[in-house]
Amino acid sequence: MPQHDVLVIGAGLAGMRAALAAAEEGASVGVISKVHPVRSHSNAAQGGINAALNPEDSWESHAFDTIKGSDYLGDQDAIEIMCREAPQELLHLEHLGVTFHRNEEGKLGTRAFGGASAARTYYVADITGQAILHVLYEQLMKHSEVFRYEEWFTTALLQQDDGAMAGVVGRNIRDGSMELFPAKTVILASGGNGQVYNPTTNALVCTGDGIALAYRIGAPLMDMEMVQYHPTTLAGNGLLITEGARGEGAHLYNAEGERFMEKYAPNKMELASRDVVSRAEQTEINEGRGFPDGTVSLDITKVPRKRIHEALREIINVGRDFAGVDITREPIHIKPGNHYTMGGVKTDFEGRTPIAGLYAAGEVACVSVHGGNRLGANSLLDTLIFGRRAGQDAARYASDTGMPKPSYASLSAEQGAIEAIIRRERTGRRVSEIKAELGATMDKYAAVFREEDGLRTALEIVKRLQQEATTTATDDKGSVFNQDALGALELGYMLDNAELIVMGALERKESRGAQFRTDYPARDDEHWLKHINLSVNGEIPEVSYSDVTITQWQPEARTY
Ligand code: FUM
Repeated sequence: MPQHDVLVIGAGLAGMRAALAAAEEGASVGVISKVHPVRSHSNAAQGGINAALNPEDSWESHAFDTIKGSDYLGDQDAIEIMCREAPQELLHLEHLGVTFHRNEEGKLGTRAFGGASAARTYYVADITGQAILHVLYEQLMKHSEVFRYEEWFTTALLQQDDGAMAGVVGRNIRDGSMELFPAKTVILASGGNGQVYNPTTNALVCTGDGIALAYRIGAPLMDMEMVQYHPTTLAGNGLLITEGARGEGAHLYNAEGERFMEKYAPNKMELASRDVVSRAEQTEINEGRGFPDGTVSLDITKVPRKRIHEALREIINVGRDFAGVDITREPIHIKPGNHYTMGGVKTDFEGRTPIAGLYAAGEVACVSVHGGNRLGANSLLDTLIFGRRAGQDAARYASDTGMPKPSYASLSAEQGAIEAIIRRERTGRRVSEIKAELGATMDKYAAVFREEDGLRTALEIVKRLQQEATTTATDDKGSVFNQDALGALELGYMLDNAELIVMGALERKESRGAQFRTDYPARDDEHWLKHINLSVNGEIPEVSYSDVTITQWQPEARTY
């Protein structure tokens, strides 16, 4: 039976950073990942990572931009930690071998990004996440005390009688065998829930597993209504066209040829924060100034061709292969699309949840450093800073804790539940059909603009889909790579996430960051400068509130 001091679920940047930090503290570490680590969704992060490293910049300026970007919902103490520690983390990555762009003087070079008052985004062309992911994986392989369970799927979090973590149950995707993993601590680093929406920039693996697993055992979730729509995604398939394109100088136009951001953000224009740009685009489209395919256009030809080939080479491929457009010669049609989960499992600065031994870091978690709207290039930073802190703290906690002995009954129960799904004859719809309806529903009712009636409709549909999910079954009756069976489990996780997003959006009766309620169009600090927490409580989640931590920046009107 494999047992570990620290068991990390997920092997993207947060998971690998946590695992490395825990190993460096002397812990025995296991990493479970449902895909090979270098296929984790961190791979998709294109534009870069923020750090106030330049002597003319300051962590305070980075913190203020992040707080303003969050529409004052981010906790300022957590944001201070992230921004203070960013330069050191960036240099650490550089020393490990991440080939960050260097400028003509041979120094680390930056690009501008949205909502930032200084160009502080460090990057590797438009494959920054991939570059960091591969370097961290190399580091992980050097550590013999880190066991990697690649292509294993976590089906349950296990607790001891007193509620503390006891480990997890996992299924080996390759052969269908199942295993009990006793662990003193479990760090959830399993990413966000983008697949709840369709289209999305998120990989197929982003099904909100960690959020649902933690919620089901009583960990509170925070600010689930805050779902980011990225301003530049391809219509139809949701593929990301990096904000780095606008950082390099690309412009947005409506179908009438107007550079419409002049109306919405006259100072920052295309580099206003994402919620502002996405709303501007959606307004242009809704008011009939978009293109017939429901888009506006991004003109990257404003960027010199040589520079596009140097700094934006991946999106040249995306434009050509998925839209038939040569972005170096003509504008490309884009629209706002689902991109990032700002809410998640509520944690403190060390990644601790209220359940002893259960941690969360990265997109699955809500520390909260993004509040109502995350700034571009702060997500990689969040994964690394809070992944490291969680790994260190979990290792220290484990050094004072005995190895739990989870019961084999939990393993049998999980085996039985999956076998039942595989054996069941389908009497209703396929998983893929339910998932498609869920994605379209969320994209229609819980997107850039929301209102009470639409959200209530979404909730009704999600409730119906939850019922329908109980009658679905797999076509694959085997055990080797039975993705069909895992898809059924993921569907359950996604439906939980969807219900909680809609519940949060209904609860918050104001407009802040990514939550724009057309029936409550103003930000209301008097009543809603607070976090919304959702906890499991039978059929209907229990709602509670917690204060937003303000250190030195009082909320003020937000203009760009
Ligand atoms: O646009 C982008 O490159 C995405 C970056 C991010 O979400 O941080």
